[in-house]
Amino acid sequence: MSAPKGYSTLQIALHWLVALIVVHQFVLHKGIETAWDAYKAGQAAPFSVLAGLHVAGGILVLAFVLARIAMRLKRGAPELPVEEPMVLRLAAHATHWGLYLLLIGLVGSGMAAWFGGVKLAASAHGTFKNLLMLLVGLHVAGALFQHFWLKSDVLRRMMRAG
Ligand code: HEM
Ligand code: HEM
Repeated sequence: MSAPKGYSTLQIALHWLVALIVVHQFVLHKGIETAWDAYKAGQAAPFSVLAGLHVAGGILVLAFVLARIAMRLKRGAPELPVEEPMVLRLAAHATHWGLYLLLIGLVGSGMAAWFGGVKLAASAHGTFKNLLMLLVGLHVAGALFQHFWLKSDVLRRMMRAG
């Protein structure tokens, strides 16, 4: 299968939606933590819109990530500029699949903790969240490096369908 020239509108929309929800998951996590602390202390979890949003947001991320992976496998993704060193292209691929895996791991562990009461899953959730932060940092740095230093069209093609 030959690689497409760019991402589809849907691929782009889902990329930015996932990024937005992930930021929300990080910023507004107090509600779910309070509910989880209450559960661990054997108390009934207080009703919390924020905790509900965290659970719903995470499940939405899973749905979008699975849709994106299906689209990536079916339609493909544009190649990184061929003139760039192999090591850079390998790092980009590893980062992208690492992000997908971590997002799935985060939602899976979150669900096992929340719906199954598995405490070990909650600590895995914490570890995955730290790893995701690290990888997103690398990913954003890579995108900005491509745009401002290498002056490639990699960032632009995640904005405009092609
Ligand atoms: C992309 C998806 C998700 C992200 C990025 C995410 C992120 C986070 C973050 C940043 C925290 C705070 C942890 C801390 O500061 O130590 C947290 C806590 C938590 N999340 Fe998620 N989460 C996601 C999905 C989910 C889902 C789908 C569920 C449940 C169905 C869930 C359940 C929980 C629980 C129970 C806690 C409290 C754990 C604790 O305090 O140890 N999360 N999450
Ligand atoms: C939580 C935040 C984010 C996540 C989880 C995420 C995840 C991903 C993933 C998994 C891909 C691979 C696309 C594919 O399937 O082919 C990708 C591509 C891309 N992302 Fe992000 N992203 C995030 C935030 C950002 C931000 C803030 C920027 C811009 C500064 C950005 C710029 C890009 C670009 C330019 C590509 C395309 C790379 C290429 O064509 O090789 N992302 N992102």
